Amino acid sequence: MILVTGANGQIGQVLTKRLRQLHGADNVLASDITKLDNYTEKFEFLDILNKHRLNEVIGDHKITQVYHLAAILSASGEWNPKKTWNVNLNGLLTMLTLAVDHKLEKVFFPSTIAVFGNTTPRINTPQHVPLLPETVYGMSKATGENWCNYFNKRYDLDVRSLRYPGIIGYQSLPGGGTTDYAVEIFYAALRGEEYTCFLNEDTRLPMMYMADALRGTTDLMEAPKESIQIRSSYNLAAMSFSPIEITREIQKHIPDFKVKFEPDFRQEIASSWTESIDDSFARSHWGWNHEYDLEKMVKDMLENVTI
Ligand code: NAD
Ligand code: SER
Repeated sequence: MILVTGANGQIGQVLTKRLRQLHGADNVLASDITKLDNYTEKFEFLDILNKHRLNEVIGDHKITQVYHLAAILSASGEWNPKKTWNVNLNGLLTMLTLAVDHKLEKVFFPSTIAVFGNTTPRINTPQHVPLLPETVYGMSKATGENWCNYFNKRYDLDVRSLRYPGIIGYQSLPGGGTTDYAVEIFYAALRGEEYTCFLNEDTRLPMMYMADALRGTTDLMEAPKESIQIRSSYNLAAMSFSPIEITREIQKHIPDFKVKFEPDFRQEIASSWTESIDDSFARSHWGWNHEYDLEKMVKDMLENVTI
């Protein structure tokens, strides 16, 4: 049985469905602290900070693999730094510890471009760079990467991880990140509304379409163990764009669409992240390849977002 934590989130909702297609609906257990309305699939309420309950869920459901998505994201995280550290880092540590105790086959941990900071090379950011993140979210994920590496080396735990860029999809809404604008903008465009973007027009960030993120995740998890040579977290890339560049791409389809730029506290976070990522290790070690660029992603979003 596969356990997904944080399964109600932007990625969790979509990844859980994909895992059910791949492994059978009865073989995937969704969990979160809240439940979506009318959710009828296999589900357990699970606060990742409740070790006793997590232990029980893993044992009762004979869990063999975990996709540990539960977290508080970059922007929301700044409102409550200690809680963010607790959920993101102590939640992960509890999961890794129980994964060893229960001899789980594999654990997936999503890291992020937020592990990079102002001292990181901004263009084509290499895999191996000193990590000095500016947010508590980035701090918790950077430290989490080190714990994953440690558990792999010390306990031979098969833990695998990706540094996701900002994820864009039509199936679910984002949950408090700095890249959320790149999803919100489509809803405004399709509603015929002006969009107020919370980042400057020229802030370029690494981004990825949900379809690519799902394939990257499942390919990583299915890859032969010996091909996974990086046990902290793999750089992963697809496209990079700025708010003005995505606006112009949407305007090719909706010429009247208007955007104004009113940067808020999220600008400082975005400015500390990198522009583009060197993911050559993911490409050579386990065959990562992206499919969606800006043009293809915008077309697909405009065809599929429901308002
Ligand atoms: P999200 O905020 O949409 O969802 C996170 C989920 O975690 C929520 O449903 C929330 O209820 C749950 N959660 C929070 N606290 C919890 C707790 N104590 N116990 C159990 N569940 C708890 O996030 P997402 O965008 O779906 O991201 C999923 C993972 O991917 C996260 O670990 C995030 O750091 C990572 N990630 C996401 C992006 C992105 O652009 N979406 C980019 C990089 C990394
Ligand atoms: N998209 C995420 C965020 O903005 C990056 O991890 O927080």
